[in-house]
Amino acid sequence: MRKINITNIEVGSRISKTIYNSKGQVLLSAGTVLTGRYVKRLKELGFTSVFVDDGLIDDISLDEAISEETRVQAVNCIRGIMQNVPKNNVVHTAPVSKAVDCIIDDLLKNREIMLNLSDIRSYDDYTFSHSVNVTVISVFIGMCLHYRKDRLKDLGMGVLLHDVGKTHIPPDIINKPGKLTAEEYEIVKRHTWYGFETLRKSPGIKLTSAHVALQHHERQDGSGYPRSLKGDQIIEFARISAIADVYDAMTSDRCYRKSIPVYKVCQYLAEGSGGQFDSRILDRFIERVALYPQGTRVTLNDGRSGIITKQNNGIPTRPVVRLFWTKKGHLPKPLNVNLAEHSELTIEDIHE
Ligand SMILES: [Fe+2]
Repeated sequence: MRKINITNIEVGSRISKTIYNSKGQVLLSAGTVLTGRYVKRLKELGFTSVFVDDGLIDDISLDEAISEETRVQAVNCIRGIMQNVPKNNVVHTAPVSKAVDCIIDDLLKNREIMLNLSDIRSYDDYTFSHSVNVTVISVFIGMCLHYRKDRLKDLGMGVLLHDVGKTHIPPDIINKPGKLTAEEYEIVKRHTWYGFETLRKSPGIKLTSAHVALQHHERQDGSGYPRSLKGDQIIEFARISAIADVYDAMTSDRCYRKSIPVYKVCQYLAEGSGGQFDSRILDRFIERVALYPQGTRVTLNDGRSGIITKQNNGIPTRPVVRLFWTKKGHLPKPLNVNLAEHSELTIEDIHE
C-alpha cells in the first residue's frame, strides 16, 4: 500500500486503509473501490491523501510507529476531552492514561524502527490528530534519550494534553486559515496558561506534565511564549515537544499549504539547532527519522525512478527503493535496490 495525494488518485483504486470522519466514525472501509463520487466527497471533506493499493508496492506493509487501533483510540480520547473540558475545566485522566500506555507499548514493540508517521486526516480533524502525532513523536524522542517507562508516561500525558487550553480560545480564531492579527495572536498565546491551569487541577496529572502545556511554545533562544524562557529554564519535556510540534505541523497538509517533505523539515529543524531547538535532543531525533518515508516516489542520480519500500535503521539517507522507470519508460521488471549497498547511487529528487 502507499499514500497518494487525492488529486493523483485513479478512480477504481482500492483503499488499503480505513478512512474515518472527524467524529471517529468509519467513512470508507479498507478494500473499498474508489468511485468518482467517493473521491469528490473526500475532497469536499478536506482529505488530501488516502492509502491505496495501486499495483506498485501492494506487497509492502507499512512500518508504522503505532497501530491503527492505538491511533484511533488516542484521537477519540483527545477529541472527547477537547469537547468536554470547558464544562468542568478538569480532565478525566483514565482514558488519557490508557491511550498513552498503548502509544508507549506500540513504540517499545517497534523499538528499532525509524520514525515513519503516515496518518491521513481531514482539515477539521487537525487538532486531534496533531496532538496524537506530537505525543507519538515526543515519546519516540524520549526513547532515543533512553527514558524509562514511567518517565515516558509523564511525558506522554503532558504532550497528549498540551493544547487542551485551546478549548478556551474562540474557534474562529483557532481555525482562522490566514495570518492572525496582533490582537488575535495575543489571545491564542493564552492557551498555554489555560492548559496549565486545567491540568494542574486535574487528578492524576503530575505537575511536570502540566508544565508541557505551559511551556510547549517556549524556544531555546527565548523567542517563544508565554514567558520567553531560555535554555534550561524550559523543562526537557517541553523542549522535546517543541521539536515534535514543529515537525508534525510542517509535515502535515493544512488548508492554506501542502505538507513539506520530511527531509526539508529536518533541514529546517537543523538550522534551528542550538537556536530555537535543543541541539542535543534534535541530533538524537534526526538520526532516527525516515527522511524518505515508505511510499515516496524518488528519482536517483542515474535517472531511474521508483518508490521507497523500506528503511535502513540508522542510515536515514539510504533507504531501499523499488525501481520501475527509466528516463525513457518502464524497466523490463521492477528492481529492488538497497541504497546502503550502492554508494554510487543517491536520491536526486522526490515527487509529490
Ligand atoms: Fe499550542
